[in-house]
Amino acid sequence: MSNQVKPFFVAFEGPDFCGKTTMRKEVAKWLRTRISNEVVETREPGGTPLAEEIREVLIKRREEKFNPLAELFGFMSARVQHTEELIKPQMELGSVVLSDRFVDSSWAMQCVATFGAVSEEEYLAVEKIALKGFRPDLVVFLDIDPEIAMKRQKDSERAKDRIELKGMDYHKAVWRGFQERLDYTAQECLHLDAELPWQENIERVKEHLELYFL
Ligand code: TMP
Repeated sequence: MSNQVKPFFVAFEGPDFCGKTTMRKEVAKWLRTRISNEVVETREPGGTPLAEEIREVLIKRREEKFNPLAELFGFMSARVQHTEELIKPQMELGSVVLSDRFVDSSWAMQCVATFGAVSEEEYLAVEKIALKGFRPDLVVFLDIDPEIAMKRQKDSERAKDRIELKGMDYHKAVWRGFQERLDYTAQECLHLDAELPWQENIERVKEHLELYFL
C-alpha cells in the first residue's frame, strides 16, 4: 500500500464512559487498511513510561485532597512529556497519532469543573506555557449526558478511579465544559451524539477522515 498521507493528530474526547476507547481502536484498525503511515495509539494521562507514572499519581484514590491548581499542573506535566517525547517525534517520523483524551479534558475537568478554584485566566496561562498553542488536528467529541454514560458503565468490573468517583455535579460541569470548548475549537471538532450506536458514529468519523487523505 503506498497511500502515505501528511501526518495528523486526532484526540477523542468526552465525559467518562463516552466510548472513546472503542472508537479510537476501531478508527486505528480502519486507518491501517487505508494508509501506509504508522498509526500510533496512545492515551492521556500517559503515553510514555514517565507520563504513565504521573498518571498513577493523578488517578490514585487517597485521603489527601488534591489541590485544584496542583492537579492542573499534574495533568499538564504528563501532557508536556507526552507531547514532546511521543506525539511530536512520531509525527515528525510520519506517523498518524490517535489519543484517548488531550488538552480539552483539562479545560473541562481542571478548569470548568473546579467551579472557580482554577479561573479561566489561570487555566489558559498554564495551557499556553505547556503547549505553546499545539493542538490536535481534529478533536472527535463524543457528546453524551454523563448520567446516561454512567448507567452504561454501572455493571463494569473495573474499580472507578479518583476522578470517576466525583459526584454528578462534577460530571455535569465537565460535560458543559466540553460543550463550551467547542466554541474555541469549532474548526477542528467533529461533534458526535454518543447516545447513537457507535457503528453509526464510526462511519461519520471515517467519512470525515477521508478529507485527510486527499
Ligand atoms: P481515562 O479514564 O480517560 O483513562 O482518564 C483517567 C481519568 O483522568 C479520567 O477520570 C479523566 C481524568 N482526566 C482529567 O481529569 N484531566 C485530563 O486532562 C485527562 C486527560 C484526564
